Amino acid sequence: GPARAAEVRALIHDVPDYPHPPVVFRDITPLLADGPALADVIEAFAAVVASHDGVDVVAGMEARGFLLGAPLATRLGVGFLPLRKAGKLPPPVERVDYELEYGSASIELRSGTLRPGARVLLVDDVLATGGTARAAAALVERCGGVVAGLAFLLELAGLGGRDRLAGRTVDTLLRAGS
Ligand code: PRP
Ligand code: MG
Repeated sequence: GPARAAEVRALIHDVPDYPHPPVVFRDITPLLADGPALADVIEAFAAVVASHDGVDVVAGMEARGFLLGAPLATRLGVGFLPLRKAGKLPPPVERVDYELEYGSASIELRSGTLRPGARVLLVDDVLATGGTARAAAALVERCGGVVAGLAFLLELAGLGGRDRLAGRTVDTLLRAGS
């Protein structure tokens, strides 16, 4: 409920000007360190999944998507796929390049780990510009998966993330001004 949401929100610390102005870093470390709050968050993600038409596997974006996605997968009794930053996985990998505010990045999945036609739930901590999530969804589809939906702990409004994921099922547990 709303009271719980406020408690969880209070455990996400806003750090102004990190890593550089004018970015406000959203630090989930205090939330991860709080057992009951972390369990609440995983349960809230599980409730989102219950509204989907089946989820065969959870995928998380390196690094913070791992921290929420893997416990959710365990909770659901399904597997977990790590979508890794460039250069961490041995070949063969599938790769999607994407633009950041400054520069570019890549996200990779080991070839052959995603069963063709599997319904995939993508999980991450923060939806900001949506660049990471859009690339992750494209990577899943390139590997033959079906994106069942995307779920985020915190949505930063006003950065265009929702628009960048237009046409997809997006759920966010908390929303904040950017
Ligand atoms: C952060 C956050 C999301 C992404 C959101 O990850 O964890 O993955 O940025 O931003 P976007 O919507 O504009 O793409 P970051 O790349 O900082 O790395 P980390 O998860 O490894 O800490
Ligand atoms: Mg991240």
